[in-house]
Amino acid sequence: MDSGSVFASLVQAPEDPILGVTVAYNKDPSPNKLNLGVGAYRTEEGKPLVLDVVRRAEQLLVNDQSRVKEYLPIVGLADFNKLSAKLIFGADSPAIQANRVATVQCLSGTGSLRVGAEFLARHYHQLTIYIPQPTWGNHPKVFTLAGLSVKTYRYYDPATRGLNFQGLLEDLGAATSGAIVLLHACAHNPTGVDPTLEQWEQIRQLMRSKGLLPFFDSAYQVVALVVWWITGGQIENMLGFASGSLDADAQPVRMFVADGGECLAAQSYAKNMGLYGERVGALSIVCKTADVASKVESQLKLVIRPMYSNPPIHGASIVATILKDSKMYDEWTVELKAMADRIISMRKQLFDALSARGTPGDWSHIIKQIGMFTFTGLNGEQVAFMTKEYHIYMTSDGRISMAGLSSKTVPHLADAIHAAVTRMG
Ligand SMILES: Cc1ncc(COP(=O)(O)O)c(C=O)c1O
Repeated sequence: MDSGSVFASLVQAPEDPILGVTVAYNKDPSPNKLNLGVGAYRTEEGKPLVLDVVRRAEQLLVNDQSRVKEYLPIVGLADFNKLSAKLIFGADSPAIQANRVATVQCLSGTGSLRVGAEFLARHYHQLTIYIPQPTWGNHPKVFTLAGLSVKTYRYYDPATRGLNFQGLLEDLGAATSGAIVLLHACAHNPTGVDPTLEQWEQIRQLMRSKGLLPFFDSAYQVVALVVWWITGGQIENMLGFASGSLDADAQPVRMFVADGGECLAAQSYAKNMGLYGERVGALSIVCKTADVASKVESQLKLVIRPMYSNPPIHGASIVATILKDSKMYDEWTVELKAMADRIISMRKQLFDALSARGTPGDWSHIIKQIGMFTFTGLNGEQVAFMTKEYHIYMTSDGRISMAGLSSKTVPHLADAIHAAVTRMG
């Protein structure tokens, strides 16, 4: 009975395209149902994972009687901010050394993107932001609601299931000068396709020559790197990173910082520390001078204060505890490697299962793509078929979370893909 309600004229809003997959999954009574929608890591038994090192950090925090529950400053926990900047820009980053980086703790990756976007909408001279096509479904909404005007640049080529590098260069080359450009720092979501370091260098040169402002979204840092190390066999890099000395030029974000130019970076600790629900993240703005960085920070406070006043303390304390202790930091990378190993094993098992079934088409992208997701190339009709007939849930663009698979569920998925491809064309 909604008559008489002041909200009676509201229409029912659709479910979020990504989180709605889980809502539909939860309603399905089938014992064989499988949720490959949301990008959250699952164990081989299909259970969520809390890292041992996170449990240990939490124990330390609980046992520390000196800890209180006072408000954090508007910009968050100082240690957390310093360590987060160090993690993304490198321990020896010249920008950090020169105090040219303003870092604020935000509500995970999404909150960091939103605060960054609100700041840009108020203080940057160009309100257009170019985002890759395709991209994470929340990007256009976050930026539009912050007051930016969203345009896209070509990124993915369905024909090669790889990067449309030419299209990317053309579109950024034709972009309004000074516009903002959103770049996925690594493990592009949903495609799992990243530029090579040589291509990043070309992107950097083009963007700097046109005065385009880079806004990095780093939701998979370290997860992607570990996967890359394992697949690329570049073990020396892994050891280098574990000891804190990974060559700064080896990563796209650091290339853009090394040239002395300005950029923004939104970091999330959801995937790489499994802190999804703790909502821990950071926004860093790299500026030309320490003076500008200080002004930027003061303005970020004015964005944050009326939005949520100040961020929560628990998750940021976990991250800071782990990042500042070299032993715990090393343990973290070992646990990450185990997660990455499992994801890679799932990629191999799914690829082998499709090969064994003789499923038509080239499925090598399953083992080539980077990170948590496989962008299968299945179309909306095939996805709907797999959900209806096989109770397999995924986003309608055909993206599946490899982290949600296990050796037990791979055959079921392979059967479903085989049936979808052979029956639905
Ligand atoms: C590309 C990308 N950016 C940002 C996020 C934000 O995640 P969170 O707000 O949970 O940190 C995600 C999460 O899936 C993502 O895939």
